[in-house]
Amino acid sequence: MTSANFLSVAWEAASLAGALIRNHWQQPKSIDYKGAIDLVTSVDRECERCIVEVLRNYFPNHSILAEEETDWVGAEGNHRWIIDPLDGTTNFAHGYPQFCVSIALECNAEVILGFVYDPLRGECFTATKGEGATLNGAPMRISGVKELDKALLATGFPYDQREEADFYLSFFKEFMTRSQGIRRNGSAALDLCYVACGRIDGFWELKLRPWDTAAGALIVEEAGGRLSDLAGNKFSIWGKETLASNGVIHDELVKTATGVIRARNSLTQS
Ligand code: IPD
Ligand code: CA
Ligand code: CA
Repeated sequence: MTSANFLSVAWEAASLAGALIRNHWQQPKSIDYKGAIDLVTSVDRECERCIVEVLRNYFPNHSILAEEETDWVGAEGNHRWIIDPLDGTTNFAHGYPQFCVSIALECNAEVILGFVYDPLRGECFTATKGEGATLNGAPMRISGVKELDKALLATGFPYDQREEADFYLSFFKEFMTRSQGIRRNGSAALDLCYVACGRIDGFWELKLRPWDTAAGALIVEEAGGRLSDLAGNKFSIWGKETLASNGVIHDELVKTATGVIRARNSLTQS
């Protein structure tokens, strides 16, 4: 099976889910709560079911991990699909037009394909390991911004934002005073893709999950960007910290973030 075959199956699955999302985003939603502010709609679940059905049809022996209800271990242990059927659920629930479908494929625990589809703009961000990244089929590159002082950043807040507001805002304050601006768009997968295509120069968030970052992180890497945790250590989709950038401003981002962490540690130790 070639990467082109995997991509065309990912496209088939994402376009079905994307059509569901497009048809429902301005309609009343049926909403459940996974936490105080962590929503899930019937469309999230429906999208997941239709993506999983397509993948199982083509790859009955692959494993599948999806956000809402699927953690399936297939007979062939090497391949696993990691899916966020609707990234940006709070936006979707409010009819705020920023959300996407995110599909990644791991082979032997390494992400080899990333596919992020924004169904409202019709934008399709893809990457295959070692083969580069594309936006609607055209090669895509990170920005050329050289300093944090000239950078546009993005971030997101985890679902424990009410409990940890001060900590999350301390990062926001430091980055706000050092950059040209910060956007909080509400879809981490799209935020990563926006780093990859140069619309933003850096992105950070804590406590993202593998389905939020698996596709977008490969897309950033393949577009020439860099990923790490907030301290500059190797990035993992299973880790608790995501820092992505065009690479050039990465050290400045790490320096700023570690300053915040050091300040917090000295407070909690005193
Ligand atoms: C969320 C979005 C949001 C980010 C949250 C994620 P969901 O995913 O990516 O931008 O700030 O941390 O959990 O719940 O909409 O799939
Ligand atoms: Ca998500
Ligand atoms: Ca989701």
